[in-house]
Amino acid sequence: GGPAVDVKAEIQRLKRERNAVILAHYYQAPEIQDIADFVGDSLDLSRKAANTDADVIAFCGVKFMAEVAKILSPQKTVILPDLKAGCSLEDSAPPAEFARFRRAHPDHLALTYINCSAAVKAESDIIVTSSSAERIIAQIPKDQKILFAPDKHLGAWLSRRTGREMLLWDGSCIVHERFSVTELLKLKAQYPDAPVLAHPECPAAILELADYIGATSGILKQASERTDPVMLVATEPHIIHQMQKAAPDKLFIGAPGADGNCGCNMCPYMALNTLEKLHLCLRDLSPVVEVPEDIRLAAKRSLDRMLEMSA
Ligand code: 13P
Ligand code: SF4
Repeated sequence: GGPAVDVKAEIQRLKRERNAVILAHYYQAPEIQDIADFVGDSLDLSRKAANTDADVIAFCGVKFMAEVAKILSPQKTVILPDLKAGCSLEDSAPPAEFARFRRAHPDHLALTYINCSAAVKAESDIIVTSSSAERIIAQIPKDQKILFAPDKHLGAWLSRRTGREMLLWDGSCIVHERFSVTELLKLKAQYPDAPVLAHPECPAAILELADYIGATSGILKQASERTDPVMLVATEPHIIHQMQKAAPDKLFIGAPGADGNCGCNMCPYMALNTLEKLHLCLRDLSPVVEVPEDIRLAAKRSLDRMLEMSA
């Protein structure tokens, strides 16, 4: 072919030309995190998307996150490098089934993890993220019954943390389910002083081995706050890129799967976004993320409640 395009320079140029902002989640590839204007957890990214004055939001994350940006900023063009960037948690809660579940429990408040479709958000009362859930649950009257979807592991952990019984939907994240207890125990034996930092999407057997449990932003904070020279990280390993930047002298090891390989348990959906696809979507302003207006308005209600209650 012809002369190689300097993809990074083109992204910067197109970003200015389009008055675009690039938002990235911590699970994106390092080169995407490094070119983004803002990197954050799900709550940070929702707030940024609601408040930016850019005309275009190039969302480097998965589709439900880009939908949140569109729901909160409908007048903006929201683009996603690869529309196939889904999420196993979203897939585990088909909107029609979720609506039936709700109708079967009319006396329950529907507290729903942000990792779901816009249609499921539209059927929910309050959205939560890992970093805001405890704060939000604390504001719900004690006698109010709660159902929680779609992540059963996060839901069970929140129940243990808050002492609130919740009716749980049976969904999970394929990445966090894949960590092996046996292999993690072997790794801990190798590094007996290293704390385990885990995301609450992990099953209970992994969380029992954790010294810290929190959202990606919380795990990242541990990198600089803790003095331990080695830390074991039980979440999608791309977060380690920011941990390493925050604490270059420390060693961060991604938790292993059943094959014993460390730091290899990546999210296949997040990995669909590449620098090349980011370039093309800024150039073509496509693919765009759209949400039907009736669903958008209903979903905005539950998202606005999250933003208010986590302020
Ligand atoms: P947080 O960044 O809010 O912890 O979310 C983790 C996640 O699984 C996103 O898909
Ligand atoms: Fe969904 Fe899990 Fe990937 Fe997050 S890491 S986007 S929860 S599949």
